[in-house]
Parts: sequence; C-alpha cells; structure tokens
Amino acid sequence: MEDIKILSKEIVQLARLSLTGSRKDLEFYIRRLIRKIQKWDTAAAAELAEIVNHLPKRSSVVRSNEIDSMPVDKDTRLNLLKVDPNPFIENEPILLDRITSELDDIVAERARLEELLLAGAEATKAVLFVGPPGVGKSLSAKVLARNLKLPLLTLDLSAVMSSFLGRTGSNIRNVFDFAKSSTCVLFLDELDSIAKKRDDSAEVGELKRLVTVLLQELDAWPADNLIIAATNHDELLDPAVWRRFDRIIRFPAPTESQVTEIIKSELSGWKQVGPDLLAVLALLLKDQSHSEIIREIKNLKKTTILKGGDFDSAAETYIALAMSKLTHEDRINVANILHRTGRASQRKISELTGVSRDTIRKKADLGSEA
Ligand SMILES: Nc1ncnc2c1ncn2[C@@H]1O[C@H](COP(=O)(O)OP(=O)(O)O)[C@@H](O)[C@H]1O
Ligand SMILES: [Mg+2]
Repeated sequence: MEDIKILSKEIVQLARLSLTGSRKDLEFYIRRLIRKIQKWDTAAAAELAEIVNHLPKRSSVVRSNEIDSMPVDKDTRLNLLKVDPNPFIENEPILLDRITSELDDIVAERARLEELLLAGAEATKAVLFVGPPGVGKSLSAKVLARNLKLPLLTLDLSAVMSSFLGRTGSNIRNVFDFAKSSTCVLFLDELDSIAKKRDDSAEVGELKRLVTVLLQELDAWPADNLIIAATNHDELLDPAVWRRFDRIIRFPAPTESQVTEIIKSELSGWKQVGPDLLAVLALLLKDQSHSEIIREIKNLKKTTILKGGDFDSAAETYIALAMSKLTHEDRINVANILHRTGRASQRKISELTGVSRDTIRKKADLGSEA
C-alpha cells in the first residue's frame, strides 16, 4: 500500500513536469527516478535509461547556423564566449602525475556516465583548477575538451567583469543558457575576478546579485555536461561558489625536475645542450612558472639565431646577465656546476658568477673530499 502511494506521487510529479516543466527538469527527474526504480525493477530502470540516453542529441555549437545565436553583449554586440570547436594542443602539458591522472579520471567517468548513473554514482560535472598564473590551467581545460572530443567554450570573467559590470549577470545567464543547449565543455576563466571586485563598496549589491546568478547557474548545470573554472586565488572565492565544485585540482609551480623537462622539451629537435648548461639554466629558472620558463628559452633561441647560431655562448651571456638576480648561495652553486664539468677556467667562472676563485677552489676541494 505504502509503495503504491509513493508510486502515485511519482506519476503526478512526472505528469506535472512533462506538461508544464522544462525539458531539462524532466530529464533530471527521470534520471533520479531511474535510480529509485533500479532497486525493485532493474529491467524497467534499464528501459528508462535507454530512453533518456537516446533523446534527440542536443545541437552542437560547431554548426554554422548556431553561430548566429551565440551570446553577445546587448549594447556592444561583442561576443561573450570564445568558441574552439576542435581543440588542438601543440605541445602536451608537463604536469604532475596526480594531475594527469585526475584529468584522465574525469574523461573516464564521462565515458561511463550511464553506468555511474544507474549505480547512483555521479560523474564530475564541475571542476575547479587552482594555481598561480602560467602553470597550465587553461591549457588543461583545452586538453580535457580535446580528450572528450567536445568543443571548448571559454568565458573570460575578467573581461566580462571589467567592461560590462552592470549587465554581467544577464550576460552570464545568456552564456550558460547557450552552453547548456549544446554538448560542450564550458570554461570559466579567471573566476576570482568576481571576488576581487568586492573591495569596491559602491558595487556590493550588484556583486551579490552576480554571485547569486552564478550559484543558480552552477546548480542548474546538467549532469551530462562538464564545466571547468580556473582561479589564481581560491581563498578569494565565495565559499558557496567553492562548494559547487565537486573536484578541486591544484596546479603548483613547476618542480625542479619539471623545470629541466620544460627546458629540454623547448630545445629538443633544435640544439643538443650539455648537462652542465642545462643544470645552470634550470637553476636560474627555478622560481618561474611554466609559461615564463618557455618564454625565456624562446628568447634565448632567438638571441642565438640573431647572434650567429652559437647556443653555448648565447647561454653564457644569458647566465652572466641573470646572475645579479641570484642569491650568493645559488651563484656558488652555478660556479660549482661549471667547475665540476670543466667547462671553463676558474678565472672565467669567477668572472661569470662573481664568486671569488678562492671560494670556487675551496668548494671544489670539499667536493672531491666528499
Ligand atoms: N604545465 C605546462 N606544461 C607545458 N606548458 C605549459 C604548462 N603551463 C603553461 N604552459 C605554457 O604556458 C602557456 C600559458 O599557460 P596557461 O595554461 O594559459 O596558464 P594558466 O591558465 O595556468 O595561467 C601555455 O599555452 C603553454 O605554452
Ligand atoms: Mg589561464
């Protein structure tokens, strides 16, 4: 008797949603229903899953007729979203194993969405990337979209915030509506821009409304689409926003071995570099982000080419220039590496590093005793 009552309630709700609700709500409801029914009628649950699975596919943003309906700012008519229909990665990112494996997990979950759903488990639908600038957050969003074979839609919140604050809420709504209507990866870049604005007391009310809009949109995000957000400072995020993400991935600055790996990969196929120069360059670049290291090595390549093609001497000039930024201890380390590999005379090393020949000699003696 009890069971029948529950069942009738479900039927009423189902009728209400199918006749008056949105298609998205109905879909959600049925997915929940599948989980309930699963307990006493697996065949019926499977049948329902089949129906939900084979609903007419939502449109893909790549179709040209869709481009006309892309969300634009009402006044400026500027596009709010950047669409990359077919993400392509030139160089695979250099990431910690734990990050790579989390990214792989997200893709694996998506591939088995229905199975997870039937078991009452859920796939990650909102991921937050946290880390300093230039360590591969945007790049990883692109990698995820590519691996999922989905278009990447990017909303740069810093751009939307600065230029159209008054209309940001409705712009965000339009972007989410558009993204929800297709199968894609939506990437919210610079999510902390919203939080950063909070210091400006004149706009507090506007910002509260904005955060509310964002929360509502995150809550209504369909389980079968992926949303990624990136931020430099997660401590700035509203805790309510933070909680909406079911996976947080932290991107640290490159580790020592990654610094070497990045330099090697930038130089690969171009010049062979000895281990001593590599070690010194790695030492000089150790506190920089991935993107800064890449930029420095590209500059070094450029100098080499413009100065006649000798990489070693270009690198030595670079080292001499960078020396002033190093601590005394690191300068001694550089001197040691150069001395150990017999790259240059003590006098030359001393000139290059500013470390006295005495110190170089003493260190070398210590090294040979050890
Ligand atoms: N982990 C990484 N491995 C390889 N290259 C990287 C990495 N992180 C950043 N880069 C380089 O720096 C550029 C900018 O990185 P990006 O992903 O935009 O950084 P973030 O979004 O974290 O600020 C990338 O296009 C790439 O060339
Ligand atoms: Mg970025």
